[in-house]
Amino acid sequence: MDATAGRGWVAILGLATLLAALPVATRAADHSIIETSFGRAEGREVELYTLTNRHGIEARIMTYGAAIVSLRTPDREGRLGNIVLGFDSLAPYLAGVPYFGAAVGRYANRIAGGHFILAGKSYELAHNDGPNSLHGGARGFDKRIWQAQVLPSSATAVALRLTYRSAAGEEGYPGELTAHVTYRLQDDDRLAIEYQATTSAPTPVNLANHAYFNLSGDPHLSILNHVLTIRASRFTPVDAHLIPTGELRSVDNTAFDFRAPHAIGSRIESQDEQLRLGHGYDHNWVLDKPLPGAMAVAAVLSDALSGRTLQIETTQPGLQFYSGNFLDGKPAGHGTVFDFRTGLCLETQHFPDSPNHPGFPSTLLRPGETYSERTVLAFGLQPR
Ligand code: GLA
Repeated sequence: MDATAGRGWVAILGLATLLAALPVATRAADHSIIETSFGRAEGREVELYTLTNRHGIEARIMTYGAAIVSLRTPDREGRLGNIVLGFDSLAPYLAGVPYFGAAVGRYANRIAGGHFILAGKSYELAHNDGPNSLHGGARGFDKRIWQAQVLPSSATAVALRLTYRSAAGEEGYPGELTAHVTYRLQDDDRLAIEYQATTSAPTPVNLANHAYFNLSGDPHLSILNHVLTIRASRFTPVDAHLIPTGELRSVDNTAFDFRAPHAIGSRIESQDEQLRLGHGYDHNWVLDKPLPGAMAVAAVLSDALSGRTLQIETTQPGLQFYSGNFLDGKPAGHGTVFDFRTGLCLETQHFPDSPNHPGFPSTLLRPGETYSERTVLAFGLQPR
Protein backbone atom coordinates (compact mmCIF):
# COMPACT_ATOMS: atom_id res chain seq x y z
CA MET A 1 0.00 0.00 0.00
CA ASP A 2 1.52 3.42 -0.93
CA ALA A 3 1.52 6.39 1.42
CA THR A 4 -1.48 8.08 -0.22
CA ALA A 5 -3.57 4.95 0.09
CA GLY A 6 -2.42 4.68 3.72
CA ARG A 7 -3.69 8.19 4.44
CA GLY A 8 -6.94 7.22 2.78
CA TRP A 9 -7.34 4.32 5.19
CA VAL A 10 -6.62 6.57 8.14
CA ALA A 11 -9.33 8.94 6.91
CA ILE A 12 -11.80 6.06 6.52
CA LEU A 13 -10.94 4.71 9.97
CA GLY A 14 -11.29 8.20 11.41
CA LEU A 15 -14.71 8.55 9.81
CA ALA A 16 -15.74 5.10 11.09
CA THR A 17 -14.69 6.07 14.63
CA LEU A 18 -16.62 9.33 14.35
CA LEU A 19 -19.71 7.51 13.07
CA ALA A 20 -19.49 4.92 15.87
CA ALA A 21 -19.47 7.71 18.43
CA LEU A 22 -22.48 9.48 16.90
CA PRO A 23 -25.89 8.83 18.44
CA VAL A 24 -27.81 6.39 16.27
CA ALA A 25 -30.73 8.74 15.72
CA THR A 26 -28.54 11.20 13.79
CA ARG A 27 -27.53 8.52 11.28
CA ALA A 28 -29.57 7.83 8.20
CA ALA A 29 -27.74 5.03 6.47
CA ASP A 30 -29.24 2.44 4.16
CA HIS A 31 -29.68 -1.09 5.43
CA SER A 32 -27.02 -3.56 4.33
CA ILE A 33 -25.69 -7.08 4.58
CA ILE A 34 -21.96 -7.75 4.29
CA GLU A 35 -20.08 -11.06 4.16
CA THR A 36 -16.59 -11.61 5.61
CA SER A 37 -14.58 -14.67 6.60
CA PHE A 38 -14.71 -15.73 10.27
CA GLY A 39 -12.07 -18.45 10.00
CA ARG A 40 -12.06 -22.14 9.21
CA ALA A 41 -13.56 -25.24 10.79
CA GLU A 42 -13.46 -28.84 9.57
CA GLY A 43 -11.33 -27.64 6.65
CA ARG A 44 -14.12 -25.34 5.51
CA GLU A 45 -14.62 -21.60 5.48
CA VAL A 46 -16.92 -20.15 8.14
CA GLU A 47 -18.56 -16.92 7.00
CA LEU A 48 -19.71 -14.02 9.10
CA TYR A 49 -22.60 -11.86 7.88
CA THR A 50 -23.18 -8.38 9.23
CA LEU A 51 -26.79 -7.25 8.89
CA THR A 52 -27.43 -3.58 9.57
CA ASN A 53 -30.75 -1.75 9.54
CA ARG A 54 -31.45 1.92 8.77
CA HIS A 55 -31.07 2.87 12.44
CA GLY A 56 -27.66 1.24 12.77
CA ILE A 57 -28.89 -1.84 14.65
CA GLU A 58 -26.49 -4.60 13.72
CA ALA A 59 -26.70 -8.40 13.91
CA ARG A 60 -23.64 -10.51 13.14
CA ILE A 61 -24.45 -14.10 12.21
CA MET A 62 -21.94 -16.85 11.45
CA THR A 63 -22.45 -20.02 9.46
CA TYR A 64 -21.03 -22.18 12.29
CA GLY A 65 -24.14 -23.09 14.29
CA ALA A 66 -26.13 -20.42 12.38
CA ALA A 67 -25.27 -18.44 15.49
CA ILE A 68 -25.83 -14.82 16.45
CA VAL A 69 -22.30 -13.63 17.29
CA SER A 70 -23.30 -10.13 18.33
CA LEU A 71 -26.38 -7.94 18.37
CA ARG A 72 -25.80 -4.21 18.71
CA THR A 73 -28.71 -1.99 19.67
CA PRO A 74 -28.85 1.58 21.02
CA ASP A 75 -29.17 2.49 24.70
CA ARG A 76 -31.19 5.49 25.81
CA GLU A 77 -28.32 7.84 24.85
CA GLY A 78 -28.27 6.35 21.35
CA ARG A 79 -24.99 4.50 21.97
CA LEU A 80 -24.77 1.07 20.35
CA GLY A 81 -23.81 -1.84 22.60
CA ASN A 82 -23.73 -5.61 22.21
CA ILE A 83 -26.66 -7.22 24.05
CA VAL A 84 -25.71 -10.90 23.61
CA LEU A 85 -22.79 -12.96 24.93
CA GLY A 86 -20.35 -13.93 22.22
CA PHE A 87 -16.80 -13.84 20.92
CA ASP A 88 -15.00 -11.84 18.24
CA SER A 89 -13.26 -14.88 16.81
CA LEU A 90 -14.20 -18.44 15.88
CA ALA A 91 -11.67 -20.28 18.08
CA PRO A 92 -13.62 -20.12 21.38
CA TYR A 93 -16.75 -21.41 19.65
CA LEU A 94 -14.80 -24.39 18.33
CA ALA A 95 -13.24 -25.00 21.75
CA GLY A 96 -16.77 -25.38 23.13
CA VAL A 97 -19.17 -22.76 24.47
CA PRO A 98 -22.61 -23.44 25.94
CA TYR A 99 -24.59 -22.81 22.72
CA PHE A 100 -23.90 -19.03 22.58
CA GLY A 101 -26.35 -17.50 20.09
CA ALA A 102 -26.70 -20.79 18.20
CA ALA A 103 -29.56 -22.43 16.38
CA VAL A 104 -30.07 -25.57 18.44
CA GLY A 105 -31.54 -28.78 17.03
CA ARG A 106 -32.56 -31.33 15.88
CA TYR A 107 -34.27 -31.28 19.27
CA ALA A 108 -33.67 -28.20 21.43
CA ASN A 109 -33.75 -28.89 25.18
CA ARG A 110 -33.81 -32.28 26.88
CA ILE A 111 -34.99 -35.75 25.96
CA ALA A 112 -35.15 -37.99 29.05
CA GLY A 113 -32.74 -40.91 29.07
CA GLY A 114 -31.71 -39.96 25.51
CA HIS A 115 -34.47 -42.21 24.36
CA PHE A 116 -37.84 -42.11 22.59
CA ILE A 117 -40.16 -44.51 20.79
CA LEU A 118 -41.68 -43.73 17.42
CA ALA A 119 -44.10 -46.06 15.62
CA GLY A 120 -43.04 -48.90 17.92
CA LYS A 121 -39.34 -48.43 17.18
CA SER A 122 -36.89 -47.35 19.86
CA TYR A 123 -34.36 -44.55 19.18
CA GLU A 124 -31.21 -43.96 21.24
CA LEU A 125 -29.54 -40.56 21.42
CA ALA A 126 -26.28 -39.36 22.98
CA HIS A 127 -26.34 -38.82 26.75
CA ASN A 128 -24.60 -35.46 26.83
CA ASP A 129 -26.36 -34.03 29.91
CA GLY A 130 -26.20 -36.59 32.68
CA PRO A 131 -28.61 -39.32 31.61
CA ASN A 132 -30.35 -37.01 29.11
CA SER A 133 -29.83 -35.89 25.58
CA LEU A 134 -29.54 -32.09 25.42
CA HIS A 135 -29.83 -29.75 22.41
CA GLY A 136 -29.50 -32.39 19.69
CA GLY A 137 -26.80 -34.58 21.27
CA ALA A 138 -23.00 -34.67 21.10
CA ARG A 139 -22.86 -32.71 17.87
CA GLY A 140 -26.12 -30.90 17.40
CA PHE A 141 -26.97 -28.20 14.85
CA ASP A 142 -25.00 -25.65 16.91
CA LYS A 143 -21.78 -27.48 15.96
CA ARG A 144 -22.43 -27.76 12.23
CA ILE A 145 -21.57 -25.44 9.35
CA TRP A 146 -24.71 -24.12 7.69
CA GLN A 147 -25.00 -22.99 4.08
CA ALA A 148 -25.79 -19.28 3.83
CA GLN A 149 -27.81 -17.46 1.23
CA VAL A 150 -28.35 -13.71 1.22
CA LEU A 151 -31.99 -13.11 0.31
CA PRO A 152 -32.93 -10.13 -1.87
CA SER A 153 -33.38 -7.06 0.36
CA SER A 154 -36.89 -5.68 0.58
CA ALA A 155 -37.71 -1.99 1.05
CA THR A 156 -37.77 -2.51 4.81
CA ALA A 157 -35.44 -5.42 5.68
CA VAL A 158 -32.31 -7.43 4.95
CA ALA A 159 -32.34 -11.20 5.33
CA LEU A 160 -29.99 -14.16 5.56
CA ARG A 161 -31.16 -17.74 5.12
CA LEU A 162 -29.11 -20.61 6.54
CA THR A 163 -29.65 -24.22 5.60
CA TYR A 164 -28.45 -27.42 7.22
CA ARG A 165 -29.14 -30.90 5.92
CA SER A 166 -29.03 -33.42 8.75
CA ALA A 167 -28.51 -36.97 7.47
CA ALA A 168 -30.87 -39.78 8.44
CA GLY A 169 -29.44 -41.39 11.58
CA GLU A 170 -27.30 -38.38 12.51
CA GLU A 171 -27.13 -38.21 16.32
CA GLY A 172 -29.57 -41.11 16.35
CA TYR A 173 -32.54 -39.24 14.82
CA PRO A 174 -34.58 -40.83 12.02
CA GLY A 175 -35.02 -39.26 8.59
CA GLU A 176 -33.01 -36.75 6.61
CA LEU A 177 -34.03 -33.35 7.89
CA THR A 178 -33.54 -30.16 5.88
CA ALA A 179 -33.63 -27.19 8.24
CA HIS A 180 -33.69 -23.50 7.34
CA VAL A 181 -33.22 -20.58 9.71
CA THR A 182 -33.83 -17.11 8.28
CA TYR A 183 -32.69 -14.01 10.13
CA ARG A 184 -34.59 -10.96 8.92
CA LEU A 185 -33.40 -7.63 10.32
CA GLN A 186 -36.15 -5.10 9.79
CA ASP A 187 -35.97 -1.31 9.68
CA ASP A 188 -38.69 -1.20 12.37
CA ASP A 189 -35.99 -2.50 14.78
CA ARG A 190 -37.15 -6.11 14.89
CA LEU A 191 -35.11 -9.21 14.20
CA ALA A 192 -37.36 -12.01 12.93
CA ILE A 193 -36.04 -15.56 13.21
CA GLU A 194 -37.96 -17.93 10.96
CA TYR A 195 -37.59 -21.70 11.07
CA GLN A 196 -38.60 -24.21 8.45
CA ALA A 197 -37.90 -27.92 8.15
CA THR A 198 -38.90 -30.94 6.08
CA THR A 199 -38.06 -34.60 6.58
CA SER A 200 -37.78 -37.87 4.68
CA ALA A 201 -39.12 -39.94 7.62
CA PRO A 202 -41.12 -39.14 10.79
CA THR A 203 -38.90 -37.43 13.38
CA PRO A 204 -39.20 -35.17 16.39
CA VAL A 205 -38.10 -31.58 15.63
CA ASN A 206 -37.62 -28.66 18.00
CA LEU A 207 -35.56 -25.71 16.80
CA ALA A 208 -34.64 -22.72 18.96
CA ASN A 209 -32.17 -19.91 19.25
CA HIS A 210 -29.88 -19.96 22.28
CA ALA A 211 -28.79 -16.31 22.59
CA TYR A 212 -27.75 -15.18 26.07
CA PHE A 213 -29.02 -11.64 26.58
CA ASN A 214 -27.46 -8.98 28.73
CA LEU A 215 -29.24 -5.76 27.85
CA SER A 216 -26.75 -3.60 29.74
CA GLY A 217 -24.29 -4.06 26.88
CA ASP A 218 -21.67 -5.00 29.48
CA PRO A 219 -21.16 -8.77 29.77
CA HIS A 220 -19.49 -8.30 33.16
CA LEU A 221 -22.71 -7.14 34.78
CA SER A 222 -25.18 -9.56 36.32
CA ILE A 223 -28.62 -9.94 34.75
CA LEU A 224 -30.32 -10.15 38.16
CA ASN A 225 -31.51 -6.53 37.89
CA HIS A 226 -33.14 -7.09 34.52
CA VAL A 227 -36.92 -6.96 34.78
CA LEU A 228 -38.86 -9.75 33.09
CA THR A 229 -42.46 -10.35 32.11
CA ILE A 230 -43.56 -13.77 30.83
CA ARG A 231 -47.06 -14.18 29.41
CA ALA A 232 -47.68 -17.57 30.96
CA SER A 233 -50.07 -18.79 33.67
CA ARG A 234 -48.44 -22.22 33.89
CA PHE A 235 -45.02 -23.81 33.73
CA THR A 236 -43.72 -27.38 33.49
CA PRO A 237 -42.11 -28.38 36.83
CA VAL A 238 -39.05 -30.61 36.54
CA ASP A 239 -37.37 -33.52 38.31
CA ALA A 240 -33.75 -33.58 39.51
CA HIS A 241 -32.52 -34.04 35.90
CA LEU A 242 -34.54 -31.04 34.68
CA ILE A 243 -37.01 -33.29 32.89
CA PRO A 244 -40.66 -32.16 33.05
CA THR A 245 -42.76 -34.31 35.34
CA GLY A 246 -45.67 -33.91 32.91
CA GLU A 247 -47.63 -31.56 35.15
CA LEU A 248 -48.67 -28.13 33.87
CA ARG A 249 -48.53 -26.21 37.15
CA SER A 250 -50.11 -22.84 37.85
CA VAL A 251 -47.62 -20.04 38.53
CA ASP A 252 -50.04 -18.53 41.08
CA ASN A 253 -48.25 -17.52 44.29
CA THR A 254 -44.87 -18.82 43.13
CA ALA A 255 -41.52 -17.31 42.08
CA PHE A 256 -42.51 -18.44 38.58
CA ASP A 257 -45.27 -15.86 38.24
CA PHE A 258 -43.85 -13.26 35.84
CA ARG A 259 -47.24 -12.17 34.50
CA ALA A 260 -46.52 -8.84 36.16
CA PRO A 261 -42.94 -7.57 35.67
CA HIS A 262 -40.40 -8.75 38.26
CA ALA A 263 -36.65 -8.28 38.67
CA ILE A 264 -35.06 -11.65 37.92
CA GLY A 265 -33.07 -11.53 41.15
CA SER A 266 -36.00 -10.58 43.38
CA ARG A 267 -37.13 -14.18 44.06
CA ILE A 268 -34.36 -16.35 42.59
CA GLU A 269 -32.92 -17.23 46.00
CA SER A 270 -36.28 -17.94 47.62
CA GLN A 271 -37.00 -21.32 49.21
CA ASP A 272 -38.61 -23.13 46.34
CA GLU A 273 -38.12 -26.75 45.39
CA GLN A 274 -38.24 -25.94 41.65
CA LEU A 275 -35.65 -23.13 41.94
CA ARG A 276 -33.44 -25.51 43.89
CA LEU A 277 -33.70 -28.21 41.20
CA GLY A 278 -33.00 -25.68 38.42
CA HIS A 279 -30.14 -23.97 40.31
CA GLY A 280 -32.21 -20.87 39.61
CA TYR A 281 -34.56 -20.46 36.68
CA ASP A 282 -34.13 -23.16 34.04
CA HIS A 283 -37.72 -24.05 33.20
CA ASN A 284 -40.26 -24.10 30.44
CA TRP A 285 -43.27 -21.78 30.67
CA VAL A 286 -46.52 -22.72 28.95
CA LEU A 287 -47.31 -19.57 26.99
CA ASP A 288 -50.83 -18.14 27.20
CA LYS A 289 -52.07 -18.06 23.61
CA PRO A 290 -55.33 -17.04 21.96
CA LEU A 291 -54.95 -20.11 19.69
CA PRO A 292 -52.24 -22.79 19.39
CA GLY A 293 -49.58 -21.59 16.95
CA ALA A 294 -50.74 -17.96 17.09
CA MET A 295 -48.05 -15.28 17.01
CA ALA A 296 -48.19 -13.63 20.43
CA VAL A 297 -45.98 -11.79 22.90
CA ALA A 298 -44.12 -14.33 25.06
CA ALA A 299 -41.83 -12.12 27.14
CA VAL A 300 -40.63 -8.59 27.74
CA LEU A 301 -37.21 -7.91 29.22
CA SER A 302 -35.89 -4.54 30.31
CA ASP A 303 -32.79 -3.04 31.85
CA ALA A 304 -33.15 0.26 33.70
CA LEU A 305 -29.42 1.00 33.49
CA SER A 306 -29.24 1.22 29.71
CA GLY A 307 -32.95 1.83 29.13
CA ARG A 308 -33.04 -1.05 26.63
CA THR A 309 -36.10 -3.26 26.26
CA LEU A 310 -36.55 -6.51 24.36
CA GLN A 311 -39.97 -7.90 23.48
CA ILE A 312 -40.17 -11.47 22.24
CA GLU A 313 -43.07 -12.66 20.12
CA THR A 314 -43.47 -16.21 18.92
CA THR A 315 -45.64 -18.85 17.31
CA GLN A 316 -44.13 -21.47 19.67
CA PRO A 317 -46.05 -22.92 22.64
CA GLY A 318 -43.21 -22.71 25.19
CA LEU A 319 -40.47 -20.49 26.54
CA GLN A 320 -37.42 -21.86 28.34
CA PHE A 321 -36.16 -19.13 30.65
CA TYR A 322 -32.64 -20.00 31.75
CA SER A 323 -30.93 -17.55 34.11
CA GLY A 324 -27.34 -18.45 33.18
CA ASN A 325 -26.86 -20.66 36.23
CA PHE A 326 -24.15 -22.77 34.61
CA LEU A 327 -22.02 -19.81 33.50
CA ASP A 328 -18.98 -20.03 35.73
CA GLY A 329 -16.20 -17.91 34.30
CA LYS A 330 -15.40 -20.53 31.65
CA PRO A 331 -14.50 -20.84 28.81
CA ALA A 332 -11.34 -19.13 30.01
CA GLY A 333 -8.27 -18.21 28.01
CA HIS A 334 -10.09 -16.41 25.23
CA GLY A 335 -10.05 -12.88 26.57
CA THR A 336 -13.59 -12.52 27.78
CA VAL A 337 -14.94 -14.80 30.49
CA PHE A 338 -18.62 -15.02 31.30
CA ASP A 339 -19.54 -15.26 34.94
CA PHE A 340 -22.47 -16.69 36.85
CA ARG A 341 -25.75 -15.14 35.69
CA THR A 342 -24.26 -12.55 33.34
CA GLY A 343 -26.53 -13.70 30.52
CA LEU A 344 -30.04 -15.12 30.31
CA CYS A 345 -31.75 -17.18 27.64
CA LEU A 346 -35.34 -16.86 26.53
CA GLU A 347 -35.63 -19.85 24.24
CA THR A 348 -38.93 -19.99 22.40
CA GLN A 349 -39.58 -23.65 21.64
CA HIS A 350 -41.73 -26.70 22.20
CA PHE A 351 -41.77 -28.22 25.67
CA PRO A 352 -38.75 -30.27 26.80
CA ASP A 353 -39.00 -34.04 26.39
CA SER A 354 -42.19 -33.81 24.30
CA PRO A 355 -41.46 -37.10 22.46
CA ASN A 356 -41.95 -38.86 25.82
CA HIS A 357 -45.05 -36.85 26.85
CA PRO A 358 -48.05 -37.63 24.65
CA GLY A 359 -49.98 -34.92 26.54
CA PHE A 360 -47.63 -32.14 25.38
CA PRO A 361 -48.07 -30.39 22.00
CA SER A 362 -46.60 -32.73 19.40
CA THR A 363 -43.09 -32.20 17.99
CA LEU A 364 -43.47 -34.92 15.37
CA LEU A 365 -42.76 -33.94 11.77
CA ARG A 366 -43.81 -36.29 8.98
CA PRO A 367 -42.75 -36.46 5.32
CA GLY A 368 -44.84 -34.05 3.24
CA GLU A 369 -45.33 -31.63 6.17
CA THR A 370 -43.38 -28.41 6.72
CA TYR A 371 -42.28 -27.43 10.20
CA SER A 372 -42.72 -23.68 10.42
CA GLU A 373 -42.17 -21.43 13.44
CA ARG A 374 -41.37 -17.76 13.89
CA THR A 375 -39.89 -15.70 16.72
CA VAL A 376 -39.43 -11.94 16.64
CA LEU A 377 -37.08 -9.92 18.85
CA ALA A 378 -38.31 -6.31 19.05
CA PHE A 379 -35.75 -3.82 20.33
CA GLY A 380 -36.91 -0.72 22.16
CA LEU A 381 -36.26 1.79 24.91
CA GLN A 382 -38.02 2.47 28.19
CA PRO A 383 -39.93 5.74 28.28
CA ARG A 384 -37.85 8.39 30.05
C1 GLA B 1 -30.30 -24.81 28.20
C2 GLA B 1 -30.62 -25.66 29.36
C3 GLA B 1 -29.70 -25.34 30.50
C4 GLA B 1 -28.25 -25.41 30.07
C5 GLA B 1 -28.03 -24.52 28.90
C6 GLA B 1 -26.65 -24.63 28.36
O1 GLA B 1 -30.90 -23.63 28.20
O2 GLA B 1 -31.95 -25.59 29.75
O3 GLA B 1 -29.92 -26.24 31.54
O4 GLA B 1 -27.93 -26.72 29.73
O5 GLA B 1 -28.92 -24.81 27.87
O6 GLA B 1 -25.68 -24.53 29.35
